Amino acid sequence: MKLFTALLAAGFAVMAAPASANIFADNGCVGCHDADKKKMGPTWKEIAAKRAGDKAAIVASLKDGSKGNYGKIPMPPQPKAVANADALAAAILATK
Ligand code: HEC
Repeated sequence: MKLFTALLAAGFAVMAAPASANIFADNGCVGCHDADKKKMGPTWKEIAAKRAGDKAAIVASLKDGSKGNYGKIPMPPQPKAVANADALAAAILATK
């Protein structure tokens, strides 16, 4: 029974890890963003450096979109991500 409990706990730990790592995929961000690789949008690290701890600015950019802060291409508002905006902002800031 002890072994079973240990296996169960390990299983949950394994399941929990990808769930948080995939928050960007789940919210449709990875087509334009990556941690290190510049795509259409800036890298998460670039954003984390610029917004250093400013979660509110990140949350606002998801609600309203963003333009002119990193380059010429604007980001449209991300209405589906607004419900998760806090967790997304924390995950972006954690990439630094
Ligand atoms: C269609 C492409 C596209 C998608 C999809 C997209 N972004 Fe962006 N994002 C951009 C671009 C381009 C910029 C740069 C805008 C600028 O220069 O101000 C940007 C900028 C940002 C910024 C910086 C805002 C600021 O002012 O500091 C954050 C944070 C961000 N995106 C988060 C997200 C998150 C989270 C998602 C998923 C819910 C997402 N983006 C989806 C293209 C995209």
